[in-house]
Order: sequence, then structure tokens, then C-alpha cells
Amino acid sequence: MTLQEEIARRRTFAIISHPDAGKTTLTEKFLLYGGAINTAGSVKGKATAKHAVSDWMEIEKQRGISVTSSVLQFEYDGCCINILDTPGHQDFSEDTYRTLMAADSAVMVIDGSKGVEAQTKKLFKVCAMSHIPIFTFINKMDRDAMDTFELLDDIESTLGIATCPVNWPIGSGKDFRGIYDRKSREVIQYSDTQKGTKEGTETDTSIQDKDALVRMIGEDAYNKLTEEIELIDGASTAFDLEQVRAGQLTPVFFGSALQNFGVEIFLKAFLQMALPPTPRLSEGEPVDPVNGGFSAFVFKIQANMNKAHRDRIAFMRICSGRYEAGMEVKHVQSGRTARLSQPQQLMASSRKVLEEAYAGDIMGVFDPGIYSIGDTLCDKDRNYRFAGIPTFAPEHFARVRQMDTMKRDQFVKGIRQIAQEGAIQVFQEYNTGMEEIIAGVVGVLQFDVLKFRLKSEYNVDIRLEVLPYEHIRWIENPDEVDVKKIVGTTDMKLVKDMKDNPLLLFVNEWSPQMVLDRNKGLRLAEFSRN
Ligand code: G4P
Repeated sequence: MTLQEEIARRRTFAIISHPDAGKTTLTEKFLLYGGAINTAGSVKGKATAKHAVSDWMEIEKQRGISVTSSVLQFEYDGCCINILDTPGHQDFSEDTYRTLMAADSAVMVIDGSKGVEAQTKKLFKVCAMSHIPIFTFINKMDRDAMDTFELLDDIESTLGIATCPVNWPIGSGKDFRGIYDRKSREVIQYSDTQKGTKEGTETDTSIQDKDALVRMIGEDAYNKLTEEIELIDGASTAFDLEQVRAGQLTPVFFGSALQNFGVEIFLKAFLQMALPPTPRLSEGEPVDPVNGGFSAFVFKIQANMNKAHRDRIAFMRICSGRYEAGMEVKHVQSGRTARLSQPQQLMASSRKVLEEAYAGDIMGVFDPGIYSIGDTLCDKDRNYRFAGIPTFAPEHFARVRQMDTMKRDQFVKGIRQIAQEGAIQVFQEYNTGMEEIIAGVVGVLQFDVLKFRLKSEYNVDIRLEVLPYEHIRWIENPDEVDVKKIVGTTDMKLVKDMKDNPLLLFVNEWSPQMVLDRNKGLRLAEFSRN
């Protein structure tokens, strides 16, 4: 296969959802279709273990396969699919957001009985920032769901993206009869005996064939369906692939991941509509995935996969070209040549050392401590610099107090190191140094991680004092305003980040706007690109 063909068949995406919407179950069904696992059936008995482990570790336990990784790769229908892990539940952290920066598109799973939930909203915002296409799968139609029009309305009004139903559910819960495919104008019948069958056994009946349909789904369901079809054909946004690919319109599919209904239909359509790796911008210039030579950027650093060695793995997304074993590349930020040591790809079936990889793929390489999140690697004769990964707004803050002041050096070193890996963000009083340290995190579990790591790796005990701040704004134009003279609100605190960027912390949601009103010319941002 040529380089062009290899890249063209790649699809790299993340699944975004609120916990319990069915991400794990859907992923498992995808793997089943891809032949990466053979046994069908639902992921059972995870309720108790759920909060202790990541979703994929659960599949690993259930199926005895190794998926504890950043990416799952498998083949389906001629495509090479990379699903990126977006940790949810308690291990939700900035890594979850950063991973989205490595995806070319996103699958949004929504529980049909709940609509858009909090975590989906947060993840959607990050996807929308990079304008990636978003494909919606409304799950759990075998349970009583919200009215279909209401569900679509909810997506449009809560997330601000237009929707276009590709298929349409016929009832839900015990009255779920199947889905109507708007393009072929056929009904695909639901039967829960499909649970566990690898190939769908759906039967398709044309909407024109009234008698057969009435026999299949009943007269009431038939009447309701034809009415609804008339409404959606008249009122919903027309399907427009360009708009989908620009992230302005989300195609919507319905089904049940657990019962394995509508999943393969979704997967096939998704693979057709989603784009292979497209050019990424290096200092404003697009880098062609096929002709741009090798390039990649680091989106995640995982420390201490092996505690004895304090080792770190840098996960990078290949943006262009081909990686070959033993290749030497330029680490742009340091200007040094780096040999990508033992790159690993963590596959559904096993962890293996990579011989080759292409644009769209993810690899984990051993990091001797030179990489930072957002760094670029490329061929030695090139000088790409991909746009850095933004620093996302933490939502929880705590003052970090050191118990034993004799260990000041270890404390500062540990805090710096952990912050550099991106596990926490560190802020200081604007005028002082490291005396007063405030840690900010996206997910509260990160506080425990900080405490645990400082103790186990640096032998430092800390105490955390939770602070009431929930909103953060970076000052975008510190050169144009006198930061110390900002007229604030009573709940505001002025601090600086590790790179000395000034920023403001607030308790109340409405305070940033008040501060903007009181200080003409001041510009505030919800994330930092520095
Ligand atoms: P998550 O990764 O998004 O957190 O969700 P996960 O797939 O683990 O699914 C959460 C629960 O919802 C699971 O129940 C799963 O079996 C169920 N589920 C997933 N898809 C469907 C569906 O299409 N229909 C129905 N009816 N259920 C679905 P569980 O963990 O086994 O039990 P429990 O958590 O309900 O106790």
C-alpha cells in the first residue's frame, strides 16, 4: 500500500459522553465488528469495580485483552481505526481534554432517556474549539427515551450545533420497534435477539410497503412514524457533508449499544462521513499529511508506568508521513535530535513495539524527560511547530501546604515536575514566589494523585486546603493593562501561573463579566495558549 493509501484509510476519533451513557459498551461492539474481540455480550458486573478503574481496563478484565492504553486500533471495512481513550468517571482530568486535540473527529454518545448531560457538554466545548466533526449516537433506545424531537432540540439548544437525523427511532423502551433510515426510506426492525450476534440480522422493509410495516410494527407505530417523517422531512436541517466536516452539523443516529442494534449501521456511515487525517497547522501553515514528511506532536505524558524507574511515556499523534523503527527526528523545542526509543502502540490485542506507523496513528515513546505537552517532532531538515495544546481551565483549587518545611527543595522540585507533566496546574500569589502554592485541577482525583505522588516519589507530606474558586480567566493583554490596578470583585484573587502569566480566580460565575465591565480594555480568556 502506498503512503497515501495508508493515510487515506485511517480514522482517528474520540468518544465523548457522560459517565454511564454507554461509551464502554459501544466501544466493545465496535471492537467486535472489527474482529478485535470474538465474544459478544454486554460488559457485565462492572458496577462495583466501576469507580476504581478506567472504562477500558474494565473491558480488559472482562475480555482478557490489553486495552489499558491511550488508543485502541483495529481494522474494519478496509479502514484502520484509532479510538482515543478519553478517561471519564473519577479519572476525568486535563488529559481527557488534551486527548481530544489528537482526534480528527468525535463520536458523541447520549443516553436517550437523559439528553445532553454535564460532562458531554464540557467535552463538546473542547471539540467545538477545534472544529472537529461530531457524530451523535443516541443510545439506550431499548429503554424509555425522551421524545425524539425534544432530544434533537436539547442538542441544538444546549450545545449550539445543528442536528440532522440520519435515521429515526420507532418508539422506545418496550415499544421500541426499530429505526427508519431516511436515505433508503426503509425500516430496520429491532429485535433483542440481536444481542450477541456479530452480524446484524436486521430485516429492511420499505416505507412504501404499508401492509408489511403494519404487520411488523403495528398500526399505531406506523401512523406515528409516517407523521413524524413528514415533519422531519419538512423541518429538519438538510444533510450537508461539508457542514458535518466543518463541525457545524451533527448527523444523529439511534440505537442500543447493549442490544447491538443500530451500531454497525452507525459505524459504517461514520467511517464514510468522517475524514482521514487532514492538514494540521504549523505556525499558521497547513502541513500536508502525505507530502509533509514525518511530523507529530505530544498530547499526553504519562509518568511512572513503572515506579522503580520513574519512567515517563510521551504519547504523540502523528500528523504527517510515516514512522519507521529506529528513526531519528528533530525535537523542535530543544533543537535536539531524538531517536524515538521503542515506540509502542498499545493495541487491542497486545502491546507491541511499533515497526511503522502513519499519520493519524498514536504512539507512546519513552521520554527521558525532554518532552513537554504540545511539543513537535519532525524530520531533521524541517522546522514545524504545531499550535500548542491549550491549558484548560481547572475547576477545583486547593492551597498546598507542606508539612515538613525542611524538605522545601524536594517539595518545589516535585510540584514543578508534576505540573510540567500536566497532571496539575500550579499558581502562585502574584507578588510572591513559591511560598504560597495553589494547585488547580480539572478532576478532583488529581488532588489525591498529587498527594500520593509527592509522598511516594519525593517523600514529602502535604496538606490540601480546598479553596472556593471555580472560575478562572487568564489576562490576555497584560502588557496593555496595569495588572495590579485591576478593579476586581470581592470574590476575586489575582495569581500567576508557572510561566508567570497573570490570571484571576473567581468564586462566582458572573464575576468575570463584572470585572470586564469595570476595567475597560481588559481582555480575559478561559484557556491559555501560552
Ligand atoms: P460508560 O462507559 O459510558 O460509563 O457506560 P457503559 O458502557 O459502562 O454503560 C453503563 C451502563 O449502561 C451499563 O450497565 C451498560 O450495560 C448499560 N448500557 C449501555 N448501553 C445500553 C443500552 O443500549 N441499553 C441499555 N438498556 N443499557 C445499556 P451496567 O454497568 O451493567 O449496570 P449498571 O451500571 O446499570 O448497574
